[in-house]
Amino acid sequence: MSFTLINGKFIASIIKEDIKIEVEDLKSKGINPCLAVILAGDNKASEKYVSFKEKTCLELGIKSVIFRLSEGIDEEEIHKLIDELNHNPSINGILVQLPLPRHMNQNNILQKIDPLKDVDGFTPYCLGRLLIDNPLFIPCTPKGIMRLLDAYEIQIEKKHAVVVGRSIIVGKPLSLLLLRRNATVTVCHSKTEGLKEITRKADILCVAVGVPNFITADMVKDGAVIIDIGINVTNYGKVVGDVDFESIKEKASYITPVPGGVGPMTIAMLMENTVYATKLQKGLV
Ligand code: GUN
Repeated sequence: MSFTLINGKFIASIIKEDIKIEVEDLKSKGINPCLAVILAGDNKASEKYVSFKEKTCLELGIKSVIFRLSEGIDEEEIHKLIDELNHNPSINGILVQLPLPRHMNQNNILQKIDPLKDVDGFTPYCLGRLLIDNPLFIPCTPKGIMRLLDAYEIQIEKKHAVVVGRSIIVGKPLSLLLLRRNATVTVCHSKTEGLKEITRKADILCVAVGVPNFITADMVKDGAVIIDIGINVTNYGKVVGDVDFESIKEKASYITPVPGGVGPMTIAMLMENTVYATKLQKGLV
């Protein structure tokens, strides 16, 4: 069976072009979108993601301010910083890069963010709005995945979507988004029994577990749409996803590569959310 490669890098580049024009338009009105990013600790992957975000902001004319904080910093200091950013009218979006150092309480930190500046959509307010079918900011990776499915005109309604992973960053919000589009959704996780029997029933299989080759060809139905959300670095420094791409592509109808699939969409959606936050705060939407 021949498969279609879902080119996230290309779709993201089109979206970014539109955002760039929108940013120019805002700037011509004297409005300068600005994203604040808080990076605590020295997680190598997080540093890389944050530098991608910084670079993309620069490309699109969005100002970014990165707060690099040491691993051992007191949680109170982050609360104070978020308070300041919440009250600073020149800051439009606030993003706390996850994971946070282990001694910190992620929930207490995230819920400090002003929901109107919550460009990641991780505050209880934004996640609650998503749950009641009235979203404000939608988390970037799930939002990007839905955009990819739509860009390739992949049917969602009435399909069986299986989401492997239940994180706040991907699994839970993605399940809600698929449900909103009338998919029948099954959420699996590390304690799921008989995973293979479930994934084999998926018309759309979305995987976010962070383990290379976690999904093998025997776990996939012929003709399935495969969305690989994993970003793993092998011992040889190669970036790979969570699915065994080479063997699965023969069975798939559509499949995302890693890199170049979901990853670029996450960043494009963050830029989109930042521009939306700016317009919201300026009363333009
Ligand atoms: N860590 C991995 N993905 C993300 C994301 O989308 N946002 C934040 N804040 N942290 C992450």
